[in-house]
Parts: sequence; C-alpha cells; structure tokens
Amino acid sequence: MKEDKKKVYLRSFGCQMNKLDTALVSSALKDAGFSLTDSVKNADVVLINTCSVREHAEQRVFSHLGHLKHIKKTRLDIVVGVIGCMAQRLGAELLRHEAVDLVCGPAQIPRIVELLEKTLQTRQKSLAVTENIRQRNSEEQDLSIERFESTYGIEDKQLQSQAFVRVMRGCNNFCTYCVVPYVRGPEVCRPPEAIIQQIRRLADRGVKQVTLLGQTINSYKYKAGEKIYSLADLLWIASDIEGIEWIKFITSYPCEEFFDDILQAMADSLKVCNYLHLPAQSGSDRILTAMNRHYTAHQYLDLIDRARDTVPDIAIAGDFIVGFPGETDEDFAATAELVKKAKYRNCFVFKYSPRPGTVADERLLDNVPYELKQKRNVELLHLQETISAQLNKAFMGRKVKVLVEGLSKKPHACASGDGQHSQLVGRTATEHIVVFNGPQSLAGEFADVQITQTSPLTLFGVYEGRKS
Ligand code: 5AD
Ligand code: SF4
Repeated sequence: MKEDKKKVYLRSFGCQMNKLDTALVSSALKDAGFSLTDSVKNADVVLINTCSVREHAEQRVFSHLGHLKHIKKTRLDIVVGVIGCMAQRLGAELLRHEAVDLVCGPAQIPRIVELLEKTLQTRQKSLAVTENIRQRNSEEQDLSIERFESTYGIEDKQLQSQAFVRVMRGCNNFCTYCVVPYVRGPEVCRPPEAIIQQIRRLADRGVKQVTLLGQTINSYKYKAGEKIYSLADLLWIASDIEGIEWIKFITSYPCEEFFDDILQAMADSLKVCNYLHLPAQSGSDRILTAMNRHYTAHQYLDLIDRARDTVPDIAIAGDFIVGFPGETDEDFAATAELVKKAKYRNCFVFKYSPRPGTVADERLLDNVPYELKQKRNVELLHLQETISAQLNKAFMGRKVKVLVEGLSKKPHACASGDGQHSQLVGRTATEHIVVFNGPQSLAGEFADVQITQTSPLTLFGVYEGRKS
C-alpha cells in the first residue's frame, strides 16, 4: 500500500505567511495519503508556493519552471502545481506555461488535495483562483479556510518546539507599492477562540514558542459578543497557556492606535518577547505620503521612543524600500538619518520593484536607475551593520537564554569546535542569532549561553547549560 503513495516535492518561496501555508499544505497532503520527498527526481508532483512581493521572487519561480519544462519532456507523468501569491496574481497566464498543470491562489489552498487528485486523475490543467479577490468572502468560504487552518495548523517540522499561528489574513492598507492586498484579499481576523485553541494544541505537542502572524498584526480586532478582542488580549490569553514560554508577533504597522496596550503586555508578561518588527519603509515624509503610509518620520520615531520608554530592552527591526519612484538623494539621506536615530537591531532593505496593478506602478514612474537603487541598498545596509555591530558589543560577557534551532548551517570560525560538540544556532527572545557549541540534543530546548564574541549579525558564545 505504502509504495502507491504519490510523492510530492514541495518548495516554498517568500515570507513567513507562505511558510505557514506550505506547512498547512504539507500536512494536508500527508493526511490524504501523499508522501513528501526532498528531490524533484523522485517526485510524482512538484508544488511551488510562490511570492509576488518583488519581481525577483517571481523570476526565480519562472526559472524553476523553465527547468521543470525540460524535466517534463522525459517524465510525462509528473504534475506541476503553482500555489500562492503568484498563482493568484497571474492566474490563467501562468496556467498557459508549458510546465504548469495546476494554479491555486492562497485563498483556494484548502482545496489543494481535491485539486491535485483531480489533476492526477484527468491530466487536465486546472485553475483555482479567487475571481474578486477584494470582495469579502462569504461566511461559508471563511469557515472552510478556518477549518483548514485549524485542522492542519501544526508545528514547524524544520524548527523543533516552534510554530507559526496566523491571527489574520489579507490587508486593507494599500501601500502604493504593495501587491499583497491584491493577492491575499481584504483583512480577515480569525476568531480568538480558534487561535487560542490552536496554541493550546501546539503546547500539548511540546511547542514552546509561537509566532503570531498578520500583515498589520497590531490592528487585530475581533468582536465576540460584547467584547472586542485586540492583539494585546490575545497575547495575555496566550501567556496563560502552560508550556508556551515565548510569544512573538509580526508584523506591526506604525500607528498610534493599538500600540500602547501591546507594549504594556510586552513589558508586563514574561512570555511576550521584547521584539518589535515595525517597518518604516522610508524616512522621507514626501516618500511616505507617496507610499500611502499614514505617518511621518517624526511620528514613527515618537512611537519608537514610546516603545523604549515602556520596554527599555526592546529590540526593533525595520523594513525599508530604497529607490521608490521620485526618491532623491535628499529623501534617501532622510532615510539614513532615521535609521541612525532608530537604532534598529536589524533592518531588511529592499530595492523598489514595480508590481503590476499597484498604484505606484500605474501612476508613478520607476525613475531611480537600478545602479542607484543598488548603491542606496548597500549604503543603508552598511550603515545598519555599523549600528548592529555597536549594539551587539553590549552583549559581550552577558548570559543569554536562547531557543536552540539546531545545527548551524554554515560553520563559523568564531565558535571553534571543542571536538566533542556540534556548532548550534539559536535565537534569543529579541531575535538575536547566537552560535555556540553544544550537544545536538539541545535542538528545540532552551539553553543559557555566555557571549564571548560578537559580529554585526551574530553573537557567539559558550554553552552554560540547559534551561528547563
Ligand atoms: N518593492 C520592494 N519591496 C517591497 N516590499 C513590499 N512591496 C515591495 C515592492 N514592490 C517590502 C516592504 C515590506 C516587505 C515585506 O517587502 O519593505 O515591508
Ligand atoms: Fe503591503 Fe502595506 Fe499591507 Fe504591509 S501594510 S502588506 S506593505 S499593503
């Protein structure tokens, strides 16, 4: 019986939301009798979960599909499916690609098993995308998505003791550069009891850290009877769950509303980690307006000050887009100025990539040359590196608690081996990456590490013992 199982090679591009979707698809497939394989060579089915946020991400998928087209010439029976954001964005156009048999948008993922089985049976191309993606789902559709999410929402197999839990889908913000609202639809918040039940189940299975996910997670709101639940409520309820030790949440939108009570939860609950991902995108008010971000650089820095007043050791991460249409040297200098003032733990910097269908693409000229975007990207990263290096030095000699992820992927000379133990990597509550030597059995456990060396991106240390 076992040999009959169809083997699926499942590949994921993009953000944590996508990783979560991939994990859901993976367990739904296994539940339906498919098995997973880590090579295309052995696969009967190749499924690619895709990202549309920048053109580069889409190009990578197309190059993968080009490769699969060749493979399909000799392996006629292989089925290729594209799921996720690109599937929703390109729909029928993607289905016309020679390599592609199945196209399934993010909102249709609960149907993935049914769609795949049909494609395997009929060998006919199949398209499942949402017609009016900005239209609110019917109650029935919401229920089906919710059912799928709560049935298959299990721990991340890659990272022991950790899990992602979605608290909301979609986005209502319409930043002018962003494709997300057009591929993931309007904002829908999951019911608090479903979220909490899911976290309880995860805790029962040994999960110690949950990361709550939402595009603008601080605006989570759900009316149940008389009560309106906020993210702070969720954080407090989750804090009471035995077994869950660390709670993180990404990504927050810089706005006055729904900010203070979240910071207070961070300050008062031992379990809510002192880490805030708060993308600024630019430090120029002119560009922020063109991006349809609803704050000024000054207001943004005020929020950061408030965060540090409430949670003194908070680690803040930022996202920036460089080379947005019309960005002058002066605008970029304002961004660099903001980065200097914000003292981020780390920054993610992206070169502006025009996305079809977005306001910026339709109304603004992508007039910053690629080389200049690249130059600004390098400059900003370099600036942040200097800041991170400085901030990380403060960790020297300190003992930190980390949740161990597993073997470090690339060996670091700094944490030299002791011949007995492996080089492990873990993260602190503030998302600092820590490399140290220790027994492999520590994966998924908390450990105390004494920091002996630092670099801009990594802390290095000596294992001090298991933390129960
Ligand atoms: N071009 C470049 N970066 C983008 N991002 C979103 N859309 C674009 C785009 N069109 C970045 C933002 C966001 C992160 C997830 O990706 O910085 O916070
Ligand atoms: Fe995109 Fe803006 Fe929504 Fe973030 S808040 S997903 S950048 S539209």
